[in-house]
Amino acid sequence: MEDFKNTESGKVPRHVSIIMDGNGRWAQQRGKERVFGHSHGVESVRACVEASVETGVRYLSLFAFSEENWGRPQAEVSTLMGLMFKAIADEVSALKKQGVRFRTLGDFSRLDPALVEAIRSAEAATAPEEGKEPVLDLIVFLSYSGKWDILQAAKKLALDCAGDISRLENVGPDDFAARLVTRDIPDPDLIIRTSGESRLSNYLLWQAAYSEFLFVDTLWPDFGKEEFKSALSEYSKRDRRYGKVK
Ligand code: FPP
Repeated sequence: MEDFKNTESGKVPRHVSIIMDGNGRWAQQRGKERVFGHSHGVESVRACVEASVETGVRYLSLFAFSEENWGRPQAEVSTLMGLMFKAIADEVSALKKQGVRFRTLGDFSRLDPALVEAIRSAEAATAPEEGKEPVLDLIVFLSYSGKWDILQAAKKLALDCAGDISRLENVGPDDFAARLVTRDIPDPDLIIRTSGESRLSNYLLWQAAYSEFLFVDTLWPDFGKEEFKSALSEYSKRDRRYGKVK
């Protein structure tokens, strides 16, 4: 396995984002309920956080629950929310110890207020001291969708220009990005989706404009440190041109 921390080429992606997929199938293959897969999925989250710290990835973001996931059976939605609650309680001190800042982004209006409170206190507990940079930002997208994010940014922009519509003339992509919920996070360099599905599923639609994509067959509960590091190895071979010539 390559030692990414020692590569000087800048080939370690700054921001890795993962669409964690395949928990249900992983459980079904074992004759278990889907929720069994979700709880094993938390172990993969832990492994990817550790692998990010080891390799020098600065931002790790995870698509944990989409807006569309609200349409799953009520029992599964409750279990997923319960898992989130438990994972926050169990992991916060380990995250703090590793210098990881925990953050959550999405439409919180649909979340249980008690979960929102737990999220806010975990974010506060893992916030770095004044003037210090976290080792890693772990960003969990919860009740998130790319279209929702674009729409809420468009509404903000409309409100900001309402008094003087001529301001729209000078609005550029950076002004729009400054109103997305990801405004202070660099766009993902690498987006990984597990479980053999090759789609973006309404995830970071604006932010993925120049991301590299990696679709792997591994089901999320089987995606560990080794798979994460292999993904970085694959990324290091990519030639990013951003529409230009080299
Ligand atoms: C997709 O698998 C996975 C999810 C919808 C949930 C991901 C959540 C976790 C791993 C739990 C906790 C997360 C954190 C950040 C603590 P799927 O159910 O769509 O699988 P399938 O496609 O095989 O049905």
